[in-house]
Amino acid sequence: MSDAVKFILAEQDIPTHWVNLMADLPGDEPPPPPLHPGTKEPAGPEDLAPLFPMNLIMQEVSTEPEIEIPDEVREVYKLWRPTPLYRARRLERALDTPAHIYYKYEGVSPAGSHKPNTAVAQAYENAAAGIKKLTTETGAGQWGSALAFACQLFGLECEVWMVGSSYDQKPYRRSMMETWGATVHRSPSDLTEAGRSQREHPTGSLGIAISEAVEVAAQDPHTNYSLGSVLNHVLLHQTVIGQEALAQMAQAGEEPDVVVACVGGGSNFGGLAFPFLRRVLRDGARTRFVAAEPAACPTLTRGVYAYDFGDTVGLTPLMPMYTLGHGFVPPPVHAGGLRYHGDSPLLCGLVKAGLVEARAYRQNETFEAAVKFARSEGIIPAPEPAHAIRAVLEEAQAAREAGEERVILFGLCGHGNFDLSAYDAYLGGQLEDPQFSEADLEAALASLPEAPALT
Ligand SMILES: Cc1ncc(COP(=O)(O)O)c(C=O)c1O
Repeated sequence: MSDAVKFILAEQDIPTHWVNLMADLPGDEPPPPPLHPGTKEPAGPEDLAPLFPMNLIMQEVSTEPEIEIPDEVREVYKLWRPTPLYRARRLERALDTPAHIYYKYEGVSPAGSHKPNTAVAQAYENAAAGIKKLTTETGAGQWGSALAFACQLFGLECEVWMVGSSYDQKPYRRSMMETWGATVHRSPSDLTEAGRSQREHPTGSLGIAISEAVEVAAQDPHTNYSLGSVLNHVLLHQTVIGQEALAQMAQAGEEPDVVVACVGGGSNFGGLAFPFLRRVLRDGARTRFVAAEPAACPTLTRGVYAYDFGDTVGLTPLMPMYTLGHGFVPPPVHAGGLRYHGDSPLLCGLVKAGLVEARAYRQNETFEAAVKFARSEGIIPAPEPAHAIRAVLEEAQAAREAGEERVILFGLCGHGNFDLSAYDAYLGGQLEDPQFSEADLEAALASLPEAPALT
């Protein structure tokens, strides 16, 4: 096996449980709770009930270390899981690095990314609770496609608000969602109060699209809302990625020194990293973790740790997280899935505790890394995981400088076959490199709601 490139598991190796890191968090204090947007008191399960089915709410607040995956969900996972783990031998040679680089590839799912891992679980629980329709937002279109696909399998209607800039950049993502039976609106739309109030931001943002989808779901008892990232239960569902990767790294006979993934709301990062992080917390394993984000929307590297709304208009609970302010509308960079003002509270707590290191990258350096990867490994990465690849190139160079055979594992959480307009712009020298300025930061933070300070 010494020259193996692919590490493959069998269908019966699909994990039977999700890993809930809530049970293993460091420190004696529980993490700060989400707050009700009106009363600013801790939000309980009943506050989430207008939007989510009770089984998902129970997963959201669970402190059990593991939660069983329903058989119906595992059956659907069989369509593409287990996903392959690759050793990037050609990239290693191109970089002339002694590092061993591995990537877990989620682009083999029907929608082309990791997002169906949670979409299927969420559609299943909503259908089981008698819900007829799900609304959601989508940035790059990856999440909307995943939910459209999952809703179709479980007989649910699906209505998607797609961020305006992505709607224009990625028309075939819309076609894909419609093929799976979903209805797609460009956000901001005229269909909701929230959309009408944001007309001055025609490129849209994930925060605005979330407001639109939440508004519609809150008004109809047969309709629920579904979120593609950020929340605990979403990160939980994604841990099938890391559990498979643990088994595949064992097949390869290696231990990662560093695990790298990009962060939009934190779900693919949590999905890959948390099973490895649990070993650090439980057994003292010495793995490092690197979270990569865009310099144009640098939530973890430049945001403040504070309570903020999850959406732009202020309909969701206040969440304890690094945030650029819910009023921040990031520039229309091509990594549409990373244009979010906040991040998963669970991941933010780990960054704050120093267990995860965050790094931010500009568009051009990110696409340079993506093209280097595509020219050695073949797969054209989505712009989001291209940020992780940038960080991997840095790690590989550090290994070369140190003369050490370090083991790097990263999440290639989606392919970029619908993102070729972004590659066109990069290859034609037309890609902009928007910077996040101090003035942007000040303006963004001015929109923070009044809420208890976080330490
Ligand atoms: C391919 C891809 N990667 C990453 C992300 C970022 O989301 P998350 O941080 O939840 O993984 C998205 C979001 O749409 C995406 O489509």
